[in-house]
Amino acid sequence: MADSSRILIFDTTLRDGEQSPGASMNLAEKLELARALAALGVDIIEAGFPIASPGDFEAVRAIATEIAGPTICGLARCNERDIERAWEALKYARTPRIHVFLATSAIHREHKLKMTREQVIERAVQSVRQAKACCADVEFSPEDAARTEIDFLCDVVEAAIEAGATTVNIPDTVGYATPTQYASVIRTLSERVKGIDKAVISVHCHDDLGMAVANSLAGCEAGARQVECTINGIGERAGNAALEEIVMALKTRQDFYGLTTGIKTERLYPISRMLSTITGLSVQRNKAIVGRNAFAHEAGIHQDGMLKERSTYEIMKPEEVGVPKTDLVLGKHSGRHALRDRVDELGYHLTDMQLETLFDDFKALADKKKEVYDEDLTVLIEKHLEDAPAHWSLISLHTTAGTNILPTATVCIRAPDGHIVQDAAIGDGPVDAIFKAVERVTGVTANLREFSVRGVTEGKDAQGEVSLELEVISDGHTVRGRAASTDIIEASALAYLNAVNAIATRRERGHAREVVGRPGMGA
Ligand code: KIV
Ligand code: ZN
Repeated sequence: MADSSRILIFDTTLRDGEQSPGASMNLAEKLELARALAALGVDIIEAGFPIASPGDFEAVRAIATEIAGPTICGLARCNERDIERAWEALKYARTPRIHVFLATSAIHREHKLKMTREQVIERAVQSVRQAKACCADVEFSPEDAARTEIDFLCDVVEAAIEAGATTVNIPDTVGYATPTQYASVIRTLSERVKGIDKAVISVHCHDDLGMAVANSLAGCEAGARQVECTINGIGERAGNAALEEIVMALKTRQDFYGLTTGIKTERLYPISRMLSTITGLSVQRNKAIVGRNAFAHEAGIHQDGMLKERSTYEIMKPEEVGVPKTDLVLGKHSGRHALRDRVDELGYHLTDMQLETLFDDFKALADKKKEVYDEDLTVLIEKHLEDAPAHWSLISLHTTAGTNILPTATVCIRAPDGHIVQDAAIGDGPVDAIFKAVERVTGVTANLREFSVRGVTEGKDAQGEVSLELEVISDGHTVRGRAASTDIIEASALAYLNAVNAIATRRERGHAREVVGRPGMGA
């Protein structure tokens, strides 16, 4: 018999999370994250939305084929083609799940779907049956459930269960619910829906009012036994409920909730770092559980209390969530074994060949920088997760800048055909001059939509990581580029070329896999 106190953790970082602007990942990055999610102990990985693009399809297929342990889930709208495509991607999984969704609230029915209540129920039932014919494990989501009339919601959920849904997910799609109200929706469903005992009730909350975690936990108190969430809370708009917060709230307040998960909590911090390195979306310093300040005690009175007895000001131990006591790891005398150990501990799976090139990069960095921290290492590893060889690569760079002189940049770049091309440009500053010179060499013209520099670690010799977003003028698509170096001017040039290479890869594959190109969520 299923343990009634066990909460299933359904991770949707690779689907709802990846759907948010700026969070797109390539195939190698998605696979690496999926491996880390499996090691973390999540019960279900929602690997993507296969119909959305060939890239999404490929990622779901690859994850379904490779990852053992968690159930692998793919999303589909309630239509035949979506469900067929989802199954094509999922069929190699050891334990597959198809997740179908259809909006149910009056606002969505009237303005988006233009369907009556009866039509919505009929379509939901048809789709659950179609999915069920492929796979025993079927999840149904009435999109915008939290704003759906409660009687109608009960009818839809009942019909979906009767058609074969084994999980019914209740999304607060627009982050509108409050904890008491959301809990009452879950309670009403568990009391009124016939056959509810045949399905798991799931919660899926967005954070528009900052209540996604509170709503999810209230849902669990009211009887939900699956929580849909993402690492670092990434996701559409303000994001989804943060996995690490849900898990640690259930663990730390076990006395109150009486619920458990299968998560290995000491892997929470490393996976948070991995995701933020992969996407370039940094975690706010004061973020609960995984923020840099989450376990820092500044005030003298707190420090004094901590020294006398940790529990005076500490409700969780940093080591419980995998925050390293010290993240100073390696120096220039460290060897391959030490590097391999550290890479494994950070949750990455590199082949011997990848480790060998990483070792060269590490030695080069250790020559420039006395101390190589975990964060330095993760940005180096990230370079090895590129899923295509670089088309354009930087050979050298020279800039001039100062007061009362015109900033200039000269770049020397290897073109995809092996030729070496050199050009120069002037700009508003040295970075602008570099970007213009790169444009002249590569022929890619784009608007710079976002540009940020962050110190990977602390100290004067820290690496600077540059993240940027380009909007390609010819087709309006956006791409992101990222690179790190101890010289931020060089990091800027490398990040720009990284974005230019992403454009070239996309053109080569002949499909637009970008945020703006995704199908709408309507049925
Ligand atoms: O927020 C939402 O409604 C969703 C569904 C597709 C489950 O993400
Ligand atoms: Zn969502």
